[in-house]
Order: sequence, then C-alpha cells, then structure tokens
Amino acid sequence: MKRTNGAMRTQVGIVGAGPAGLLLSHLLALRGIDSVVVENRSRAYCEARQRAGVLEDGTVRLLRESGLAGRLDREGLEHGGIYLQFDRERHHIDFRALTGGRTVTVYAQTEIVKDLIAQRLVDGGVVHFEVSDTVVDQLTSDRPMLRYTDADGKKQEITCDVIAGCDGFHGICRPAIPAELRTVREREYPYSWLGILADVPPSTDELIYAHHRRGFALHSLRSLTVSRLYLQVDPDESIDNWPEQRIWDELARRFDLPGSGWELKRGPVIYKGITPMRSFVSAPMRYGRLFLAGDAAHIVPPTGAKGLNLAMADVDVLAPALEALLKGDEGLADSYSAACLGRVWRATHFSWWMTTMLHRTPGADEMETELQLSQLRYVVSSRAAATSLAENYTGYPPRLPDSFRYPDSL
Ligand code: FAD
Ligand code: PHB
Repeated sequence: MKRTNGAMRTQVGIVGAGPAGLLLSHLLALRGIDSVVVENRSRAYCEARQRAGVLEDGTVRLLRESGLAGRLDREGLEHGGIYLQFDRERHHIDFRALTGGRTVTVYAQTEIVKDLIAQRLVDGGVVHFEVSDTVVDQLTSDRPMLRYTDADGKKQEITCDVIAGCDGFHGICRPAIPAELRTVREREYPYSWLGILADVPPSTDELIYAHHRRGFALHSLRSLTVSRLYLQVDPDESIDNWPEQRIWDELARRFDLPGSGWELKRGPVIYKGITPMRSFVSAPMRYGRLFLAGDAAHIVPPTGAKGLNLAMADVDVLAPALEALLKGDEGLADSYSAACLGRVWRATHFSWWMTTMLHRTPGADEMETELQLSQLRYVVSSRAAATSLAENYTGYPPRLPDSFRYPDSL
C-alpha cells in the first residue's frame, strides 16, 4: 500500500479476512502484487470462528505449493475415507481404493486462518481488522474505491485497480452488483445443524455420516484429542434447549450400533452453536473491476464439506487472472466467473445430494425414507456409485499432479 499526501493506493483491495481473502492476498504477494485486506471483525474473532474441518487433496496441494502447509503437514490428519451409517449398520467408503489414492485432510479452518494471518504479517502484508462501514464504489471504472472507518474511528479511502469481494454470505460486495445483473439460485433446507466441539478423543478413526429416523448426525474431529459432532435439529431450534446431557444422549442414540461394542465417548463441550442450511449461487462472479470469491458468491450446506474448498479454488483461479489483468490482458478475468462456476455447481449438486440423502425432512413419509435407504444401500454396494461419492468428496474436478491417472479410465 502506498500513501501520497494522505491518499492511499493499492493494486487489489480485498474485503474480508476469511480463508478466501487471506489466501488471495498471499497468492497475489507471491506474484509481486500489492493488496490491502479490510476486515470488520477482530483478529481473535477471525481466528476462533468455528467452521470447516475437511480439506480436499487439491486444497492441501494448493496450500503446500504456496508455502503455507508447514503446520498443516505436521498436524493435519489424512483420512482415506468416510463411514456411512444407516439401518443400524456402518459401511466404509474407501476413497484411496476408489480414486487411485486420493484422500482428504482434517485440519480446522481456525488453524488455516491463523496460519494465513501469521504468514501475511511475516511477509509485510497489510490486514486492517475491526473496520466498519465498508463501502465499495466506482466499480465499473478502472479506479474502484474502497472506503471504511478504521479501528480508531477514522474514515479511510483506498484507490484500487481491482476489488475482491471475499466478505462471505452476509457481506456488502455482492449487493453492490446491480440486482438486475445478477442471477440468484437458492434453496433453503427445513433443518439446521447443532454443532459441538468437545474435549474428548474421537470415537472413530474416520468421519461418520449417520442417517437416522430421528435425524442426521455427523461425527467429525479436530485432532486426536478434540471431537466435532453435529446433530440435525429444527431450523428454529434454540441452543438453550440443548444442555450437554441432552446433546450427548441424542448423539449416542443416532450413532448407536447394537451388538457391535462401539460406544460414543463423552467429554466437556467447549463450544456449541446452530447453523442454518442453504444452497445459494449468485452469477456472474464479476462486475466491472469487482470480483467475488468464496461464500460472497455461493454457499452450500456443510454436508459435503465443500464451502472452504470452493473458496480456496476460486482464489486459485482469481490470482493469475488479476495478475494478467494488471498487465493489460483481460482474457482470464473475463473467463473467471465461468471457470469457477463449473466447480461451484458440481459441489452445489453434491452437497444437495448428500444433504437430502441423509437428513430427515420434517413430515416426510415412509416413501421418502425408503428412497433414501435405497440410495444409501446402492452407494455402499455399487463400486460405480461409491466412486461417484468418493471423487466428489475428494474434490471434482481434481487438482492433481500431471502424473496422476485414475485406476480405470472411462
Ligand atoms: P468467510 O469465512 O465467511 O469470510 C468472510 C470474511 O469477511 C469474514 O471474516 C467476515 O467477518 C468478513 N466481512 C463480512 N462483511 C464484511 C464487511 N462489510 N467489511 C469487512 N469484512 C467483512 N467448508 C468446507 O470446505 N469443509 C467443511 O468441513 C466445512 N464445514 C463447515 C461447518 C460449518 C458449521 C459451517 C458454518 C461451514 C462449514 N464450511 C465447510 C464452509 C466454510 O466454513 C465456508 O465456506 C468458508 O468460511 C468460506 O470462506 P470465505 O473466506 O469465502 O468466507
Ligand atoms: C467439520 O469437521 O466441521 C465437518 C466435517 C464434514 C462435514 C462438515 C463439517 O461434512
């Protein structure tokens, strides 16, 4: 960032210090491009916000290639599959065997955000936390403006070449695009997730996605000592109705495997919260010199573990597009939206499919339950169906080394 007579100037103004905004700032710095990130929350809040936990192998590779995977490689837990549970049986889907060795890695979004912020600051990157009244303006000119009030209450204005809207679903960038130029596709689901973080070793070696007549449950983890678990609840449910004992009893019921000897370990709950479920895609992801990335443009229900991965895939496309644009070549910038939306729609379908196969729709009849169970039996008994789940879960289209070949070509 340059300051001349009080006026501030940067090449790329980035709104939002979530995974998308921070990674974009880093990828641009690797290309010698200057950026400023503005964020309305505090650094501590951004680093503690409980969200995703599962990274596709392409996301891990991207972080590794860009020099961000030191701690991820030491502390991340590689998983070669998941369990699908229904009808009181637990079945393993073996990603490695089905996809020629592809895996996912359990590493919390909180840790990725900590790693990204630390790296930006070591590299001299500029991240302004606790700003307010963020406004983006003059987006169709080649000098878009970023205005905000800084943490000390002073009004600031930055002249940019480009603005990246990485400000999540509730941000201000997407609404800055005229509504008549946006196509929005949206679906709300009639349930939410109650999520807990518990100070107890996971009761499983890989994630368990459980279909149950009382509703969906997911056993995930953050480390070998901390578990992350979710329960399907009504959309208007209040967290106050869920004391620890009730949460554990309900989880135990939904994961129960009679006669197997398996038991859910319980421990102190260190965080609990309720998340609504929605699919949403706003296109195009560009308006003049404003480019949207991540949750600012699209969100998926968390059942497929895709949101963070999509956010990172967007900025992996955006960084080279902005580099070319700043050198006067608009080609990649023009195709940015279409390049991202192919992956976005694949993940949107996959997350919808996982969600509707595994959750109980309130008021659903036996017909719906039988259709779900039939689909689940098909997935665990057909290699073709299991492969489809595995290649979507590990990330499609894959971001793979040139040497990679699927085991059986089409
Ligand atoms: P965000 O993380 O939302 O970051 C946007 C940032 O912009 C925020 O820091 C916000 O404070 C800031 N901001 C907003 N408005 C302004 C403003 N006006 N001015 C300045 N700053 C602003 N994804 C996966 O891939 N795998 C998973 O396992 C997974 N599990 C999930 C579980 C849960 C319970 C939830 C809720 C989500 C999960 N996700 C998962 C989704 C994932 O967390 C999101 O897709 C991801 O955070 C998107 O990153 P982002 O940077 O686009 O947006
Ligand atoms: C998580 O660990 O938070 C998690 C894992 C898998 C999902 C969603 C969330 O599908």
